[in-house]
Amino acid sequence: MKIFMDTANVAEIAEMAALGVVYGVTTNPSLIAKTGRTQAEVIPEICALVEGPVSAEVISTDCEGMVAEARKLVKISDKVVVKIPCIAEGLKAVKILAAEGIKTNVTLVFSLGQALLAARAGATYVSPFIGRLDDIGENGVALVENMVKVFRQYNLSTQIIAASIRNMEHVDKVMLAGADIATIPTKVLKEMLLHPLTDKGLAQFLEDYKNSLK
Ligand code: G3P
Repeated sequence: MKIFMDTANVAEIAEMAALGVVYGVTTNPSLIAKTGRTQAEVIPEICALVEGPVSAEVISTDCEGMVAEARKLVKISDKVVVKIPCIAEGLKAVKILAAEGIKTNVTLVFSLGQALLAARAGATYVSPFIGRLDDIGENGVALVENMVKVFRQYNLSTQIIAASIRNMEHVDKVMLAGADIATIPTKVLKEMLLHPLTDKGLAQFLEDYKNSLK
């Protein structure tokens, strides 16, 4: 499973990319708004920090507008993947963009049916929002598990990005389910590195080393 960061915060991406673990980044209008900057400012900076895909979302809700935005966004960098909402106009846009070789990430996916439609329209990636399903009492991880099963069963090449991840348990479970990618908020990514036994063990090693010099 590849690791993407789910943030538009350039400083956070730079900090974690230095660890060599971050392959790509996903953003959305809410994440961009949190930075107080514009999409046009942050996307080129993010593209300079990671090796892999960087999702930038359209804000049009009609096919024509989405396609026009997408064509503009991909001019920023060949790493840009256009994030398109899972609505009828969005799928029409995905079909047109796929024919032009423009990569898309169909977002706001909450059901197996939506996932199949996105894949059949030609999406490069599809993003099930697991935390938001949990929020309404459904099982977000189960959706990812079912998507992995169905995509394998029908040999669909669309990659699954587990999104709306809220905690380490989500990461562990989508990894076990076989998600291609997890897009992870900075806080959760930092937590993944930590274990009290690592700190305890390291302190003991250093103390034993010091004692061995006496
Ligand atoms: O990748 C999707 C993500 O940004 C949404 O996360 O926590 O707002 O549901 P959340």
